[in-house]
Amino acid sequence: MALPLVLLTHPLPPEWISSLQGRVRLLVGPAEPSGFAPHLLEQIGEAEGVLCLLIDRIDQNLLDLAPRLRVVSNMAVGYDNVDTLACTHRGIPVGNTPGVLTDATADLAMALLLSAARRLPKAAMDAKDGFWRTWSPTGWLGSDLRGATLGIVGMGKIGKAVAQRAQAFGLKLIYSDHKQVFEASLPFNVEYRSFDELLSESDFVSLHCPLTIQTKGMIDATALKKMKRSAILINTARGPIILNAALIQALRESWIAGAALDVTDPEPLPPDHPLYDLPNCFIVPHIGSATHGTRQRMAEMACENLLAGLDGLKLPNYVNPDVYGS
Ligand code: GLV
Repeated sequence: MALPLVLLTHPLPPEWISSLQGRVRLLVGPAEPSGFAPHLLEQIGEAEGVLCLLIDRIDQNLLDLAPRLRVVSNMAVGYDNVDTLACTHRGIPVGNTPGVLTDATADLAMALLLSAARRLPKAAMDAKDGFWRTWSPTGWLGSDLRGATLGIVGMGKIGKAVAQRAQAFGLKLIYSDHKQVFEASLPFNVEYRSFDELLSESDFVSLHCPLTIQTKGMIDATALKKMKRSAILINTARGPIILNAALIQALRESWIAGAALDVTDPEPLPPDHPLYDLPNCFIVPHIGSATHGTRQRMAEMACENLLAGLDGLKLPNYVNPDVYGS
């Protein structure tokens, strides 16, 4: 029997996807650009599985080209790039990779928080550019963490991992979430706040919610105006949660003190984008889960989901339970 055809939208190291060997016929897209390359689209009518990245859109148009598709495996925890309703409608389970990237992403959120609080990008650039001429008592002053308040928006796995790290730095923790997580069950001291309360009380606001219709554009001008003028905004979730125009105005007009972004809208953010010109904003290229171990484990999980789907088994991690009637 012929092995099922699987489209891997972009190359992954062979050792990360070794479980696919002998199990599928793999057609691999190029490293760039995002999306399905023409040679993959030519074959999509035959494909039974897709292993894709968060930069690939899986929508109704694509599904219409793929009558034999039986599983979509997204190598990411977020799945806003996939039209899950359309997949469910077609009976296609959608897999994701939760858990394994929690620590790496929380580490990066803390790295951004620390870098912004202590102005590391500016200090490093000034040292390199010859502005480090003496030990200046007033040079490169940042903000203290101990005693400051961190507002965590979205108390899921990553939000909790950030809270644990932040507690060790002496930050006071508050959170908002669409559901109120029972505080006594959390292994650190954290208090629930409404979104508006969180914005006005926090010295640092870190976003850890998924991108949904409810969260898209949630950090708009109204939200930014509620924040302290000394506050720093950190985003390791998804770019479109923040409205760019509002953030640019907030940073230019000092409604808030700064922003540190791992995710942007769009991605990649073009080099001439005005956000790059703001001295109180710094941006890294969506690297929350970018450690060797984490990315390998994500790829392995994506393969496990893919193979289960091809075998007609429940995926170990799926995001559209309705596809199984539950
Ligand atoms: C990364 O952003 C992910 O969703 O895995």
